[in-house]
Parts: sequence; structure tokens; C-alpha cells
Amino acid sequence: MAISSANNPVLLEDVGYRINDIPVLSGVSVRSESMRIGVIGRNGSGKSTLARLIAGLLEPSEGQIRIEGVDVYKDRRAAIRTVGILFQNPEHQIIFPTVSEEIGFGLRQLGASKADAVTGTQKLLARFGKAHWQDAPIHALSQGQKHLVCMMSVLAMRPRLLVLDEPFAGLDIPTRMQLTRHLNDAGTRLLHITHDTRDLEDYDQVFWLDRGRLRASGVARQVLQDFTQEMVRIGGGDDLSLLAG
Ligand SMILES: Nc1ncnc2c1ncn2[C@@H]1O[C@H](COP(=O)(O)OP(=O)(O)O)[C@@H](O)[C@H]1O
Ligand SMILES: [Mg+2]
Repeated sequence: MAISSANNPVLLEDVGYRINDIPVLSGVSVRSESMRIGVIGRNGSGKSTLARLIAGLLEPSEGQIRIEGVDVYKDRRAAIRTVGILFQNPEHQIIFPTVSEEIGFGLRQLGASKADAVTGTQKLLARFGKAHWQDAPIHALSQGQKHLVCMMSVLAMRPRLLVLDEPFAGLDIPTRMQLTRHLNDAGTRLLHITHDTRDLEDYDQVFWLDRGRLRASGVARQVLQDFTQEMVRIGGGDDLSLLAG
């Protein structure tokens, strides 16, 4: 299996993002050729903002973002084939009442005919062992199953990079394990954003985001260890002003 994507970096150069002139992210520079990139940070450190910037859903206030050479905000046509994103809450992602409509929509966006979208959806559901979900109303599915629908919908579009914005928060351990296995089997390049070190233990490279700035980066073991130490230190103090929103 390929362990790097050498000429196709995830590249952020001095990226800043401000809301009403208040900086949410400042001077974020990332260059990674890894297949599994992790971003760790506390609540409120700017992770979801970073996820949306990398997916091209927000325009950086400063700096540049190139995902495998694509300017994902400006070039939306190229971006939908380049980056997919999974959000923490499936309700923020799902727009259609049935599973097959949800999955088929992405394929139609990529230019598939109606008939090809139907066939593609059937094939994908079969690959995940969920052929019987075709006409299932999404509202009747469990939370973990809704996550799987979102994952299938994004993977159907075969993005070169999949951004995960804490998609496993709040799920039980077996569900996390099953969804992780599906992701691994898909073989897609991942950029996983989380506050939970468990999600990133076997990642290639981890970036630590702290109050909108990059605090450290390197091999997963070292960065996660330093992050945990700092979290324990903060947690042991009694300065409530350090409680993130
Ligand atoms: N649309 C917005 N309006 C105002 N403040 C925002 C908005 N989006 C994010 N923020 C602020 O930016 C900071 C980072 O938010 P976010 O990117 O959601 O962090 P994380 O995902 O790490 O919890 C937080 O302080 C948050 O309150
Ligand atoms: Mg978030």
C-alpha cells in the first residue's frame, strides 16, 4: 500500500481566518505528503474552521490552500473530485429522505446520468453489505447507521482526500471500530481532525492546533504524548477561564 502521496501535498501556507475581524486561525502552515494526516486540538481551537477551509467551503482571509494542486475554494469543479468532508453531525450533511437519493446525489453532481447514478448507488450499497438499505428512510436509521450513510455518500464521489471533522464523537466503541474499518478498506487518503488522541494513534503525521495556531507537528506518538501531557496539566489547574467554549 502506498504510504505517501509525494507529489500531491496537502499544502497550507500561512493561512488565517477571521470572523468579524477576530482571528479564529492565524499563520497556519501545513505541508504533508502522508496518506493519514491527523489534526489534534481542544474544543474551540479552530478545528472545524480548518476542516471547512481544507474542504474549500470557506475562503481563507489570508494565505493559500492547495490540496493536491487544487485551489479548493476558487475551483469548485475540481474541488468536488478532490476533497470530501464528513461532519460530526450527520444531520448537517444529509439532505434527502432515502439512502439511495442521498448517495445518488453525489454521483449526479459528478456528472453521472440518472441511470448511472442508480446503478452506482446499488453497487456501492452492495459493497458495504447494505443492498437492503436502498429505499430505507434515513430518519429511521440509528445514529451510527446515519454516519455510515454519510460515509458511503462521500466515498461514492471518490475524493482524493477525505476530511473527517470528529465524525466519531459520541459513537459507541463497536460503531467507531466498524466505521474505522470501512474507512480503512476504502483506501482513501485521510485528514482526521479530532480532540481524541485515540483516533490518531496509528496516523503518519499529526498537527496540534492550539487557539488557532499550530503548536507542534511530527510523528503521531510524540505529538499525541505532548498534547495529552498539556491537557492533563490544564485539567489539573483551577483557572476556569481556560475552559474552552
Ligand atoms: N461562525 C462563527 N461565528 C463566530 N465565531 C465562530 C464561528 N465559527 C467559529 N467561531 C469561533 O471560532 C473558534 C473556533 O471554532 P471551531 O473552528 O468550531 O473550533 P473547534 O472545532 O476546534 O471546536 C471558537 O472560539 C468559535 O466560537
Ligand atoms: Mg469542531
